[in-house]
Amino acid sequence: QSHLLGIEPLAPAEIGALLDLADRYADLNRSGRGHLDVLTGLTQINMFFENSTRTQASFELAGKRLGADVMSMAMAQSSVKKGETLIDTALTLNAMRPDLLVVRHGQSGAVDLLAQKVTDCAVLNAGDGRHEHPTQALLDALTIRRRKGRLHRLSVAICGDIAHSRVARSNILLLGKMENRVRLVGPPTLIPAGAGDLGVEVYHDMREGLRDVDVVMMLRLQKERMDGGFIPSEREYYHRYGLDAEKLACARDDAIVMHPGPMNRGVEIDGTLADDIHRSVIGTQVEMGVAVRMAAMDLLARNLRAARGARVVEV
Ligand code: CP
Repeated sequence: QSHLLGIEPLAPAEIGALLDLADRYADLNRSGRGHLDVLTGLTQINMFFENSTRTQASFELAGKRLGADVMSMAMAQSSVKKGETLIDTALTLNAMRPDLLVVRHGQSGAVDLLAQKVTDCAVLNAGDGRHEHPTQALLDALTIRRRKGRLHRLSVAICGDIAHSRVARSNILLLGKMENRVRLVGPPTLIPAGAGDLGVEVYHDMREGLRDVDVVMMLRLQKERMDGGFIPSEREYYHRYGLDAEKLACARDDAIVMHPGPMNRGVEIDGTLADDIHRSVIGTQVEMGVAVRMAAMDLLARNLRAARGARVVEV
């Protein structure tokens, strides 16, 4: 692949190879030996048109650990505020000859469009609208694989606001490709019509949906994408769909609890449960985020260098 735009185009073997490399980076990071030079001489530009804590910080850290020259654009202070379009901004930055462009944007498909416009540069999707958040699904997969010892034939419940979630979409695609059983659990208003066509089971009752699952993945209510539509009351939502110890007891005894963050304690998840190191792997997800982004940029840089080498030979 020359870009990482989504999980959709990836083959299971490509996902497995990326996770194997990320696993090695995770071990190196844990042992303090994660500072390497595989991206030395390359320039990475991060463009986040939407807010981010985890994704932006971990992409920056991943690039620096691998020796890239990293620049994170402050989009709020950029010429986007003067009316410059996404494409003109990207072409301007592309003219400065970056090697890796990491982009988050509020519009679904914006990052794909941008990837078609830039040249000689690998584009990584850091989340586009409701469409995809591939590195989140990959870091979730690595977390599951390390904790459960495998990434196949697991039963995974993705719970909450599925309709507005790019994290849900990327996870449904990835978990399906790796032959896991996926359940979507949430109120009918927050599960997209036709979700059953994605090869998942749909539940509207939390206790039924969690019955005997291996993994419980919680999502926040994404009010910023609800476009004036129905927003449930937080109290009522927590009562019916918030994860607490009583509802989690329906899952397997060794079920793990995940959340991509940012987390709203007392809305979609009980704060004590989120901090329970025996069940919650939320901290590990953040840690794996750095390793997965190191692996993704390493692999794309190898492809970029190979393509450049091939062009030199042609000349
Ligand atoms: N999970 C995630 O994308 O978090 P941020 O919005 O903080 O990057």
